[in-house]
Amino acid sequence: MILETKRLILRQWERKDFKAFQKLNSDAMVMEYFPSLLSKEESDVLAQKIYESIESEGWGAWAVEEKESGNFIGFVGLHETASNLPFEPCVEIAWRLSKEYWGKGYASEAGDEALRFAFKELKLNKVVSFTATVNHRSEAVMQRLGMKKSEMNFEHPALSIGHRLREHVLYQISREDYESLESERGK
Ligand SMILES: CC(C)(COP(=O)(O)OP(=O)(O)OC[C@H]1O[C@@H](n2cnc3c(N)ncnc32)[C@H](O)[C@@H]1OP(=O)(O)O)[C@@H](O)C(=O)NCCC(=O)NCCS
Repeated sequence: MILETKRLILRQWERKDFKAFQKLNSDAMVMEYFPSLLSKEESDVLAQKIYESIESEGWGAWAVEEKESGNFIGFVGLHETASNLPFEPCVEIAWRLSKEYWGKGYASEAGDEALRFAFKELKLNKVVSFTATVNHRSEAVMQRLGMKKSEMNFEHPALSIGHRLREHVLYQISREDYESLESERGK
């Protein structure tokens, strides 16, 4: 299944994306708010895992292609949250783009389409998103998508106590919020 926005295509991963993804995962600026850069092998394992998840579920963290250039620019999509997080397992929306494609509105444009898919096709009742409190760019995307910040931050259990990235903000959007946004935008 292929999703499309004005400037982007969201699709299953292809072999050629893996190389571009390796480059992105070894970029210190892109990975500033992750515990470490990924080696080529780690990047391929992650891409393969995402690929298989899309194969079996029909949705996931889609590879995003810029229509104008045909280039793979990163991923935006949906993912089931891990069970060790301090909230009920649910579906999160996430993004990671090569930095040359930041500042163009691409994460928000693809995020809008991923939310439409979550509510219209998957009929979910809620989508969450979270990131380290210091990752303001990612938090800004959550706000642009109309997601609401929960009152409580949480400590990410995968990171050690005192780690600079341990404290996370949590945002969510409910089906009702999404439907009111839709009617405000006149969709
Ligand atoms: C988080 C991330 C996806 C945000 O990307 P982004 O490009 O800043 O986000 P958007 O797509 O919403 O783009 C918004 C920016 O594009 C600008 N823009 C330019 N043209 C635009 C257009 N046609 N439409 C909308 N916005 C446009 C906006 O003004 C805004 O600029 P600003 O950064 O100066 O405020 C990106 O920084 C990233 O991949 N980071 C590394 C990975 C990461 O941290 N992921 C999250 C981990 S939880």
